[in-house]
Amino acid sequence: MKLCTRKICFDILNTADVTSNHERIIDKHKNFTDLNSRDKAFVKVLILTFFRWNRSIEKIINKYSKKKSEKKIINILRIAVTQILFMRTADYSAVNISVSLSKKFGSSVSRFVNAILRQVCRDKQEILKSLKREENIPDWIFKNWKKNFSSNSAVKFAHQSLKEPFLDIKVKKEFFKKKNWSKLLNGKPLFGELIRKNNSGLIEELPFFSAGYWWIQSAASTIPVTIIENYFKKGSPKVLEIGSAPGGKTLQLCENNFDVTAVEISKKRAVKLKENLSRTKFNVKLINEDFNKWKSRQKYDCVLIDAPCSGSGVINKQPDILYFKRKLNLENLISRQEKLLKKSLRFLRKNGLLVYSVCSLISEESKDIIYKILENNKDFSLLKLDGKLINNIQVKIIDGMIYSTPTCYQNKGGMDGFFVSCIIKGEKN
Ligand SMILES: C[S@@+](CC[C@H](N)C(=O)[O-])C[C@H]1O[C@@H](n2cnc3c(N)ncnc32)[C@H](O)[C@@H]1O
Repeated sequence: MKLCTRKICFDILNTADVTSNHERIIDKHKNFTDLNSRDKAFVKVLILTFFRWNRSIEKIINKYSKKKSEKKIINILRIAVTQILFMRTADYSAVNISVSLSKKFGSSVSRFVNAILRQVCRDKQEILKSLKREENIPDWIFKNWKKNFSSNSAVKFAHQSLKEPFLDIKVKKEFFKKKNWSKLLNGKPLFGELIRKNNSGLIEELPFFSAGYWWIQSAASTIPVTIIENYFKKGSPKVLEIGSAPGGKTLQLCENNFDVTAVEISKKRAVKLKENLSRTKFNVKLINEDFNKWKSRQKYDCVLIDAPCSGSGVINKQPDILYFKRKLNLENLISRQEKLLKKSLRFLRKNGLLVYSVCSLISEESKDIIYKILENNKDFSLLKLDGKLINNIQVKIIDGMIYSTPTCYQNKGGMDGFFVSCIIKGEKN
């Protein structure tokens, strides 16, 4: 059975260079779907751990192997080195299974694999001590973190980005005080109605999942709706939400009884959103359409844009960006973000509030885009955010804009890299 999980990892890595999304290559693998939940979790952890550390692993393999090998042999080594250095697999098991996998390439290949892996096992402590975590972060991201925060912060962000992520669970307000959620979900309270737990096992099997008493939502991503709640303390604003699926923020808007219109371009993601709405027994007007083509004369008290972005703030959850060689087209993302922002302005009523968020700390897709929109639209102004609007949770506030970073709540596992900024139609009060 163990050989089977490693064989599936091996097959997955052999196809990984041509696609760009770990969910597609793992979940769609024909033998993966037949695994039990424990083995599925193992395969995912192994592949994602390899993606996170792939640049360091490449260096180590190159150092020990000297000669150039074909990609399939390198993939066998990658799977073994990932386990030896970064997982709890016993060294002998990682080596033996990889040597078995290599036998079909001939005895000289399996001797070569065996020799390298035994050397890595012998030098393990020394290798671990000399690892530079930041070498795994693409230069353009690391430099941007350094420029916007500091060298020290960038190194800390890199360290946090390579860790296994926690799972944050947002409990419905009405049920939060009624049960001991930390005990029920085997986690710890973070802030608000959030419980943080280890990301293991099947989410669907956790208590009160089917009853819809909670949903998955990262701590950082609760910030935009917390701002909306505090800004519209009284009343029930009409909110237009752009880029809604899978729906963490939509559900949070719904639990406040806001009147929500949710726009989502992707059919597949809209299905996920509908499932989440039905499980939690909430209702919205869902528009499964490209917002750029959507026509309406309605005005809204609030527009929330959770824009498509580089995802560079959630590397620990989506480490694809560290592995796939396809260069991320940042220019294209920025122009999509700008287009959404520009169009959304026309739906705001006078004094209405626009909330813009991205799970990225890269300046071009966060503050720069906001300044550009303000520069070109003089009847809109920046609402300078302060601690009060976010219930004084731990974040960085720079020039009235919010940055949650992996060093916020660091002793509790950190936060996603997440940016939030607000614009008001008209003069600020
Ligand atoms: C960051 S994700 C949203 C996450 C979501 N707000 C949540 O909290 O679960 C961005 C979403 O924007 C959607 N999107 C991208 N371009 C869009 C467009 N032109 N119109 C509507 N939705 C769009 C994407 O399909 C994606 O689901």
